[in-house]
Amino acid sequence: MKNIAILLAVLLGTAASGAEKGNKEKEPASATAVSDLYPNDLGPAEIDVSAYPKEMKQSYKMMLFKCAACHTPARPINSQFIELSEAEQVKFKKSDPDLFKDQRLAHIEDKIWNRYVKRMMSKPGCPIKGDDGKKIWEFLVYDSKVRKTGANAAAWRKHRRKLLHEFAENYSDAYKKLFGAAPAPKED
Ligand code: HEC
Repeated sequence: MKNIAILLAVLLGTAASGAEKGNKEKEPASATAVSDLYPNDLGPAEIDVSAYPKEMKQSYKMMLFKCAACHTPARPINSQFIELSEAEQVKFKKSDPDLFKDQRLAHIEDKIWNRYVKRMMSKPGCPIKGDDGKKIWEFLVYDSKVRKTGANAAAWRKHRRKLLHEFAENYSDAYKKLFGAAPAPKED
């Protein structure tokens, strides 16, 4: 079933890339295909949300199911993206300057999850519609703050370093395609 979904996405993706060119609202077409791997994909495909608020638990389940239509849900779960407003960034620059040192470990940007959920929703065959996209976006913003900043920030960076290291070692071409020639950050 999953293979069929992936095949369909690949076929539809090829047809759509031409159409996207005429639409200036859209993100530039990505250099990576749906079949390409990300270091994120090598990490766990679920997380413990037992301490999260009720709505977040519900949105997590939806994310887990809907964001797995084309790739593993490990891709968003282990993503370097952290959405912080400009004001939050000012605060975190003081409390944890290391958070901003390597974008491969923690990529901080205002509205980044908003942008990426929309990007995924614009892909052919995406099963996420309307309000579900908003709920998933809100979950990703909340969850990234919990798991990747504050008390968990150092452990998160360690986790990403491990994934990047493993990715560079086992999928060196895919690593270069995504991150260029710079070697993976050292594991500690
Ligand atoms: C219709 C197929 C499809 C669905 C559904 C989908 N994705 Fe993706 N996703 C892709 C493709 C193709 C790529 C690689 C190319 C790209 O980034 O556009 C990707 C890449 C990603 C990346 C890696 C981006 C990067 O550059 O690091 C993240 C994170 C991601 N998806 C999150 C999500 C989330 C969150 C959802 C659910 C809201 C989702 N995806 C649903 C097709 C999909």
